[in-house]
This record gives sequence, C-alpha cells and structure tokens, in this order.
Amino acid sequence: DKEYDFLIVGSGLYGCVFAHEATRRGKRCLIIDKRKHTGGNIRCEEVEGINVHQYGAHIFHTNDKGIWDYVNSFVEFNRYTNSPVANYKGEFYNLPFNMNTFYQLWKVKTPAEAMEKIKSQVEASKVGVPTNLHEQALSLVGTDIYEKLIKGYTEKQWGRPAEQLPAFIIKRLPMRFTFDNNYFDDKYQGVPIGGYNKLTERLLEGIEVRLETDYFADREKWDAMTDQIVFTGNIDQFYDYQFGRLEYRSLRFEHQVYDTPNHQGNAVINYTEREIPYTRTIEHKHFEFGNQPKTVVTAEYPEEWTPEKEAYYPINDARNTKIFQQYNELARQEKYTLFGGRLATYKYYDMHQVIASALHAVAVKFQEKPVCQQN
Ligand code: FDA
Repeated sequence: DKEYDFLIVGSGLYGCVFAHEATRRGKRCLIIDKRKHTGGNIRCEEVEGINVHQYGAHIFHTNDKGIWDYVNSFVEFNRYTNSPVANYKGEFYNLPFNMNTFYQLWKVKTPAEAMEKIKSQVEASKVGVPTNLHEQALSLVGTDIYEKLIKGYTEKQWGRPAEQLPAFIIKRLPMRFTFDNNYFDDKYQGVPIGGYNKLTERLLEGIEVRLETDYFADREKWDAMTDQIVFTGNIDQFYDYQFGRLEYRSLRFEHQVYDTPNHQGNAVINYTEREIPYTRTIEHKHFEFGNQPKTVVTAEYPEEWTPEKEAYYPINDARNTKIFQQYNELARQEKYTLFGGRLATYKYYDMHQVIASALHAVAVKFQEKPVCQQN
C-alpha cells in the first residue's frame, strides 16, 4: 500500500480543488509545489495592509450558480464590479465599449447615433474577408475604436504589429448600447473578502503541502509514494520536451507603493497607446474597497517568454497546437496520471473554468454525476 492515494503536483486553483474534493472523499492527498507559496497564480501578498495580486489582477466572474455557491462556501465574495478605464494619450474612455465610450469618442447621445457612426466607419474601412487582426478589428468596430482603444494595447500584448497577428485572436468585440461600464456579462462577480489566499487556504485545510518542491527534481521518489498523480505543471516538461517546447507570452510586474490613499481612482487602467510600454496599471486596494493610508500600484509589462520566465498566456497557433496534440495523445493513454489546469492542458482558463474542470475530473474519477456544468 502506497503512502498517498493522490500526489497533486501544483497548488494552484486546480490542485487545491482536486485535493479538497479527494480528501473529502476519504483519500490521502499530498500536494507539492515548486514555489514558496500555495495558490499558484491567484496568490496575493499583503503589502501596507493591501492584498496585492502577485501574478496579475484577478476578478472572479461566472454565470454558473453552482460554481458561485461553491466558492462562496469557502469565503464570502464582495460586490466588486470590474469597470476598467482606458487611457489613450491622456484622454480617458470607459470600457467595455458602451454608450459612455461612444459619447467620449464622438459626443453621440443615443444608441442610434452610435450605431450609425460605427457602421459608417466600418464601411469606410473597406475590409473584405479579414486576413489579419488589423483588418478583423476594423471590420468589427471601425477606425476610431480600433486606433484608440485596441491597436496599441493588442500590439503590446503580443509583441508585434497588428498586421502580423492572426485574425482569430479577436473573434468578437462586444459593444453595449447602454450606459453600462460593467466589463463582464456574467451574473455573478466579485473578489473574496480578505483576498484569494483565504479561498485557497480553506480549500487546503487539513491537507499536507510541501513547498519549494519540484516534482522533476526527484520524480522517482514521488512516483513511488503514490497510486495516482494529478499533474498541473507543464505538459511538455512531463514528457521531456520530446516533441518540442510549447511557447507562451510572459509578463513582468512592477509594484510601487505610493504615500497617498488613492493614486488612480480605479482598480484597472488600460494604457492603449503603443508608446507606453505597459498595458495596464492595477491599484489593488480598489478590488476590496480598501481605505488604508497608502496604496500599491502595479504596472503590467508584456514580455517575450523564455524558459526561465513565468509562462502566462499559451500561444494557440498552428505550430503549438500541433505540438500540444502530440503530448495530449500520450497523456490520454496514462492510467495513473491525470492532467489538469492551465499548464498541463495548454489552455487559458478563467478561475471559474478551472474550478469547473477540476470538479468535473473529480466526478469522473469517483464515478459520480457531475455537479457543475463546464462553461
Ligand atoms: P496555476 O499556474 O495557478 O498553478 C499551477 C501550480 O503548479 C503553480 O503553483 C506552479 O508553481 C506549480 N507547478 C508547476 N510545475 C511544477 C512542478 N514541476 N513541481 C511542483 N509544482 C509545480 N481568471 C479569472 O477568472 N479572472 C481574472 O481576472 C483573471 N486574471 C488573470 C490575469 C492574468 C495575468 C493571468 C495570466 C490569468 C488570469 N486569470 C484570471 C486566470 C487564472 O489565473 C487561472 O484560471 C488560474 O490561476 C489557473 O489555475 P491552475 O491551477 O490551472 O494554474
């Protein structure tokens, strides 16, 4: 008999949910993580009494009541509503694109006027079938919105001119013809009261965790200790990069403390011009309506990814998709290893999706009826 029923590699949201659910079903679980902390990319660090999102701004949103009730059973969520503001060359515009934005751009006052303006700009741009992101965006929203609010931001995000980016990156550009600055359409959204660490700590209650422990540093030892592995690390590394490396975009965060209670007046400001090297600045206290005397603001710089950097966004182009499919074929044949989460499935997941997929995996593993639909 092995020491553990499950070894879970990675204490991100996927690993936490899986370990919690397996433990609840009487299984012996051990979680290892190579980082110094649990929580993966949703980890917060307290600075000046403020929860600072270490790996990028995280706002929880979902349409799935089952998922919302699930997270709220561990920690209560506040009523934070994401309403980013765009700064383009010193002018401010509300996001997502809505009647406030259209008024700020053109002084139009009715939905009919706004629709007319957009329609005429789309027609004037004379794009046939879009062959790249530049044409795709123009054909969806016309010149002004594209030039001021999309082009520079997207080029910074992906590190190349819009004309050289594939059209599929932008499938839709939602526009709202009401004066509503709520970024997400989902029924439920918010941020955990007291921060995301509360959520992961409650999920991990009573579960053995070993930090600064890399699975690959002693793979045989870990394999010998357990019947089954739940792997949430990089799938290409699991298979010794035999089909090549999967590529990512990376990010660099610069945190700054200001000796003022309110620096930018909003949690998220997007910088949509190309010339400013960061894409957004995050004033963390506003996620929790904080009234601390100081404030922390983080600038987010997109970067080229190299293997020693943090892997943030998968690049789901033809080359990488093909490589991933080869790894995934091997993964599907594994009897004792389950692959989950964003790195092992080479997929961008929002938090509610990663939770849904972990709960789904639990249901399959324990042959139960799935509790939540995946969305
Ligand atoms: P995650 O990366 O969190 O966890 C994997 C863990 O495995 C890590 O802790 C890692 O150290 C560990 N690990 C890897 N290899 C290992 C090894 N060999 N040995 C031991 N441990 C190993 N979502 C949302 O709903 N709202 C939002 O606002 C945002 N915002 C956002 C901003 C940015 C910049 C990004 C990149 C992402 C978001 N997200 C988001 C998505 C969210 O971050 C994501 O859904 C979850 O963090 C994914 O959790 P995972 O457990 O899959 O991975």
